[in-house]
Amino acid sequence: MKITVVGTGYVGLVSGACLAEVGNDVLCLDLDKEKIRILEEGGIPIFEPGLLEMVKRNVAAGRLHFTTDIEQAVAHGTIQFIAVGTPPDEDGSADLKYVLAAARNIGKYMTDYKVVVDKSTVPVGTGDKVRAAIADELKARGIEVPYSVVSNPEFLKEGAAVEDFMRPDRIVVGAEDEQAIHLMRALYAPFQRNHERLLVVDIRSAELTKYAANAMLATRISFMNELALLAEKLGADIELVRQGIGSDPRIGWHFLYAGCGYGGSCFPKDVQALIRTSNGVGQPMQVLQAVEAANDRQKHVLVDKIVARFGEDLSNKRFALWGLAFKPQTDDMREAPSRVIIEELFKRGATVTAYDPVAMHEAQRIFGDDGRLTYADQPLSALEGADALVIVTEWKEFRSPAFDTIKAKLKSPVIIDGRNIFSPELPRAAGLEYYGIGRK
Ligand SMILES: NC(=O)c1ccc[n+]([C@@H]2O[C@H](COP(=O)([O-])OP(=O)(O)OC[C@H]3O[C@@H](n4cnc5c(N)ncnc54)[C@H](O)[C@@H]3O)[C@@H](O)[C@H]2O)c1
Repeated sequence: MKITVVGTGYVGLVSGACLAEVGNDVLCLDLDKEKIRILEEGGIPIFEPGLLEMVKRNVAAGRLHFTTDIEQAVAHGTIQFIAVGTPPDEDGSADLKYVLAAARNIGKYMTDYKVVVDKSTVPVGTGDKVRAAIADELKARGIEVPYSVVSNPEFLKEGAAVEDFMRPDRIVVGAEDEQAIHLMRALYAPFQRNHERLLVVDIRSAELTKYAANAMLATRISFMNELALLAEKLGADIELVRQGIGSDPRIGWHFLYAGCGYGGSCFPKDVQALIRTSNGVGQPMQVLQAVEAANDRQKHVLVDKIVARFGEDLSNKRFALWGLAFKPQTDDMREAPSRVIIEELFKRGATVTAYDPVAMHEAQRIFGDDGRLTYADQPLSALEGADALVIVTEWKEFRSPAFDTIKAKLKSPVIIDGRNIFSPELPRAAGLEYYGIGRK
C-alpha cells in the first residue's frame, strides 16, 4: 500500500518505519527541515531502541522515503496518517493547530480518494473537525473528491515503541464507512497474524479510548505515590504493599511503582486535556484532578527529602543526578521530573552534576550553557565530591552499583532514590544513608 505519514516524531517515524518493514511504500513528511535532513543522511532525530536499524533497512530497500514537500506527500499515500504533536494549549486542552493544519494541507492538494487517519492523541470530536477542515479546502478549490476520516490512536510506549508497533496488544480503529474499515483491516493484517487484535469502533469512542488508557495508567501511578507518602507516615513499606496488591490478578503488577512522579509527552498532557474536556461538557472528572495534583506534588518529593536532610539553603552544595529522561530507554525529557528537581535545586543555590546514558544532549538543549548544570561521562564520575546521589530515572545500569565506591566518592554518604531501585539494606550495609519513596 502507498502510505503517507505526516510528522516524523516518536509516533510518526516509528509508524512509518514499521509500516515499511512489512512491505508498504511509505513517505514520511515533516515540516522540520532539520529532522528530514538527519533522516536523509541516514540518521534518526530521536533515540528509540531498534529504530535506527529499521529505518536504515527500509530506506535501503526503497520502501521508506522522507520529504518536506507537502504536495508530494499528499499525492503519495492513499492512506494519510496524521502523527503530529498535540501539545497542551494555555488552558491545558489539546492544541489542535498542527492536526488541523495537516488536514487542511491534505484538502488543499488531494486529487483522488484518501483515508485520513488520525494517529495523534486528540480530544473527542476532532474527527469531525478534521473532516470539516478538508471539506473547507475542497470547497475553496471548487472540487469534490471522496475521502474517509478514521481515528486510530497509538498506544506505543517510548523505549519499546518498535516492539509495541510490530506486536500490538490491540489496534483501535474508529471508522464509520466500509471502504475505510476494509483498508485499515488490510493495512494492519500483517501485525496480527496469530489472532485478531483489531477493534473497530465509532470515531468518538476511539478518540476517548486513548485518553482513558493514559488516564487510567496515570491514576495508578498517582495512587501509589500517595500511598507511598502515607506509608512513610505510618511506618509501612510501599514495596511490600506493592507486592501484596500486585499479586491480586484483579489489580496486576503494572504501573504500581511509587516514584518521583510521571512525566513524558503523554500522561501529563493527556490527563490535563481530559480534565478540560470533562469540565467543558459539565461532567468534571474529579479523580483526574486529584491525579494531576498528586503528580505535581510528587515531582517535589525528592527535593523535600534533600531539604529535610541538608536544610533549605543549599548554596555550596552539589548533587549528583542519575537519570534525566522521564523514563529509561528514551532521551525524551518532556515534563520529566528531573527538570523540576534541577530547577528547585538551583533555586536553593545548589549545583548539579548529571549522568544519563542518552538524554544529556537533550538536557543541554533545554538548560543551555547554564554553568550550574554539568555532565559526567560515567555514573560514578558524577559522584566525585558531590553531597548526595539522587536517582531520578531507573536505568538498568544503575541497579547494581558498588556501594562502597559510591560511599568513597561522595562528600556525605547519602543516596536519595526516587525510583526505589535499591533494597535499602544494601546501601545501608555499606554505611550509606538511604532514602527511598515510601520505604521503611
Ligand atoms: N510519544 C509517544 O510516546 C506517543 C505515544 C502515543 C501517542 N502519542 C501522540 O502522538 C502525537 C505525536 O507525538 P510525538 O511524540 O510523535 O510528537 P513529536 O513532537 O515527537 O513529533 C511531531 C512531529 O510533527 C511535525 N509536524 C507538526 N506539524 C506538521 C505538519 N503540518 N506537517 C508535517 N509535520 C508536522 C513536527 O515537526 C514534529 O516533528 C501526539 O498527539 C501524542 O500525544 C505520542
